[in-house]
Amino acid sequence: MTAQTLAEMDAATLPQFPMRRRCPFSPPPEYDAFRAEQPVAPVRLWNGQKVWLVSRYDDVRQVLAEKRVSNNSTHPNYPITYEARGTVKGMLASDGEPPYFLHYDGDKHFEHRRMVARDFAIRPIKDMEPLVQAHIDELIDSMLDSPEKPVDLVRAFALPLPTRIISGMLGVPYEDMKRLQEATDNSSSFNQDPEEARAAVIELGQLIDDLVTAKEKSPGQDIISRLVVEQVRPGHLTRSQLLRMIRMLLIAGHETTANMISLITLYLLENDDLRARLTEDPSQMTQAVEEMLRYFTIAHLATCRVAIEDFEVAGTTIKAGDGIIALISSADRDGAHFSAPDEVNIDRPGRDHLAFGYGVHQCLGQPLARLELRLAVSTLLRRVPTLRLAASRDSLQFKDYFNGLQSLPVTW
Ligand code: HEM
Repeated sequence: MTAQTLAEMDAATLPQFPMRRRCPFSPPPEYDAFRAEQPVAPVRLWNGQKVWLVSRYDDVRQVLAEKRVSNNSTHPNYPITYEARGTVKGMLASDGEPPYFLHYDGDKHFEHRRMVARDFAIRPIKDMEPLVQAHIDELIDSMLDSPEKPVDLVRAFALPLPTRIISGMLGVPYEDMKRLQEATDNSSSFNQDPEEARAAVIELGQLIDDLVTAKEKSPGQDIISRLVVEQVRPGHLTRSQLLRMIRMLLIAGHETTANMISLITLYLLENDDLRARLTEDPSQMTQAVEEMLRYFTIAHLATCRVAIEDFEVAGTTIKAGDGIIALISSADRDGAHFSAPDEVNIDRPGRDHLAFGYGVHQCLGQPLARLELRLAVSTLLRRVPTLRLAASRDSLQFKDYFNGLQSLPVTW
C-alpha cells in the first residue's frame, strides 16, 4: 500500500516494466511478488511514463468493469508499453479519435461494436464450423504433401488458418490474402523498429483502402460490403472509421489465435499424457482449450486503461489521469482464485479466466477463436499422430507482446 500519488513518485526509483519472462509458458515471476505484497504497484515504462500495475484477479476484474476508467489511447497518460506501439497508435489516431473502436468509451464504443457484433456472435460462428474444418484439412493436406521437412507449423498452419477465416468473413479476395498475410506478419514486439512498424502500417492501410474502394463499387455478401452499405452510406460511420475498424478486425483476428495454436501444439508435444488423453477423447478439447487460454493468457498487455476519476483499488487511491495496466496474465495465475494456478488442469471447473479480458471491451472474437482452436488442435492430433518437434527446445524463439512462437519446426 502506498500513500504517495503516482505524480509525486520519482520515475527513476520505480521498477522497469515490462518484466522479462524466465519461462516462456509463464508470466514474469515478479508478478507473484506483486500479488502477494503490492497488488497495486507503481512501475516505469520505456519512455519514463509512470503507471499502476494491478495484479490480483479480483482487482483486475474491478478495474476492467470500472466506469471511472477510459480505454482512450490518445489520452497522454494511456500506457504505451513499447516504442513502436506508440508510433503505430499515433499514426492511426485520426480526427482526434483513437485508432480503433476498442479504444472508444461509452455509447460510441457500444454503437461501433454493435455494427459488427452479430457477425461474431455464437450462432453464426457455430454455422462456420464446416468452413473452418475445410480450411484446416486443406492446410494439413498441403503440409503433409510438402516435399521438405521439417515444416514451420506457424507459417504452414497456425498463421494461415485465422488469416483465411477472417479474410473470408471480411471479403478479402483470395489473391490478396498472401499480400495481407505479409502485411500483417510483422509481429508486434517490444524491440520492433518504429520505422519498420510505420512502413507496415502504411502497407496494410493501402491494402485496406483498395479493398474498400472495390466494395464501394460493387458490394458483395461480406462484412465490409455490409458496413459500406448500411453504415457508411447513411452516414453512421465515416470512411476513415471503417478503414480503421477493418484494420482492427484483421489484426485482432489472426495473430492472437495463431499464437495460441502454436503454443498449445508445443505444450502437447511436450506432455504425452495430455496429448494421449485428447487424442483418445477429442470431446475434451473444449475444456482443454479453455485451460490453455487461461494458462497462456497471451494478450497479457492488451488491457491498459487511464483513470478519469479518482477511485480505490485494494486500498490504493488511483487518481484521475493515472495510467493503469490490468495484468490479466497475473490474474489468471492468482492462487486466491485458481487452485494450483501454475499447473495445467483441464478438469478445472468454470471458464472464468480473463484471457479474453472482462467488461465492455471483452473480446468480440472469442466464439471464433474458440472454434478455430478446438478444431485446429484436434484435427492436428488426429491427422498427424506422429507429429514431433524438429528443433531443440532451447532454439525456439518466443514472442513478447502477444505471447507466442516465432516459428515451430515440426516433423512426423
Ligand atoms: C485466442 C485469441 C484471442 C485472444 C486471447 C484475444 C484477447 C482479447 C482481449 C484480452 C481483449 C480485450 C482488450 C481490452 O480490454 O482492452 C480483446 C478485445 C477484442 N478482440 Fe480479441 N482475442 C482473440 C481473438 C480475437 C479474434 C479471432 C477476433 C476477431 C476479429 C478478436 C477481436 C477483438 C475485438 C474486436 C476486440 C475489441 C472489443 C471491444 O473493445 O469491444 N479477437 N481480445
